[in-house]
Amino acid sequence: MKLSAAITTIVLATFTLAAPQTEMRQARHNARSDGKQIGRKTSRPQNRHNNALEEYSSNWAGAILIGNGYTGVSAEFTVPKPQAPSGASSNTQYCASAWVGIDGDTCTSAILQTGVDFCIQNGVVSYDAWYEWYPDYAYDFTGITISAGDLIKVSVDATSTITGTAILENLSTGQSEKHTFTSGVQGDLCEYNAEWIVEDFEENNGLVPFANFSTVTFSNAQATDGGSVVGPSGATLIDIEQNGVVLTQSSNTNDSVTIDYS
Ligand SMILES: *[C@@H]1O[C@H](CO)[C@@H](O)[C@H](O)[C@H]1NC(C)=O
Ligand SMILES: *[C@@H]1O[C@H](CO)[C@@H](O)[C@H](O)[C@H]1NC(C)=O
Ligand SMILES: *[C@@H]1O[C@H](CO)[C@@H](O)[C@H](O)[C@H]1NC(C)=O
Repeated sequence: MKLSAAITTIVLATFTLAAPQTEMRQARHNARSDGKQIGRKTSRPQNRHNNALEEYSSNWAGAILIGNGYTGVSAEFTVPKPQAPSGASSNTQYCASAWVGIDGDTCTSAILQTGVDFCIQNGVVSYDAWYEWYPDYAYDFTGITISAGDLIKVSVDATSTITGTAILENLSTGQSEKHTFTSGVQGDLCEYNAEWIVEDFEENNGLVPFANFSTVTFSNAQATDGGSVVGPSGATLIDIEQNGVVLTQSSNTNDSVTIDYS
């Protein structure tokens, strides 16, 4: 019986290899059946460097307020439809993520964040809405289905350096999902950073192949700093550079942050 079970496994494995796309989606789905996105997480900005004009990293684009006393961040954005980049390989999954968060840049111990991942593989687009308290993995918001063109509001609020909330709301329907971190987080916030980010996130210890997300505009972008509402006008802009190629172009006003794929 053991042998035939092994043969069945081999036959099934061979069969699923014939449909790698389905297999990968299924694996992602199974890994997430407990809500935890095994292998998916935000990383802190990697390979961070700057020239006179701009900051770069291999995985973060957008705007980061750097200071003290940041306890809240929010914004709205329209969910983009990702495209495979030019020169894409078939069967490869390309992704990007848009989120707001507290810390993770000059504060290295934690990030309280929520956002949406968008992926494309062989022309099939998929979305995940999630919340995360880095360095733990991301967890799915399972009660909400995301589609291209949805207007989503994301917000995080720290009620202390180890407790807080993440809320993701569909402004078209008013449907919202909320997670409250009451205890047991893996790192303390410093409240040094408030950010609006498009990320090339990490999956299984490497950056996922980066999708062409066209444009993400965070509008009504606000942070709470020492109890006052502030806009992103004083933020540091950061763009993604990989293998010597700059892949994004970020800009800001005092109430918006725009990240273009270029
Ligand atoms: C948001 O609402 C729109 C309009 O009803 C709907 O099509 C979409 O699926 C909803 N998205 C989410 C994230 O619930
Ligand atoms: C930026 O926006 C905030 C709140 O939204 C406001 O209090 C502040 O005065 C604005 N700053 C500038 C430079 O316009
Ligand atoms: C990204 O995709 C958009 C369509 O969504 C396209 O217009 C644009 O040319 C693409 N950008 C690059 C650099 O390939």
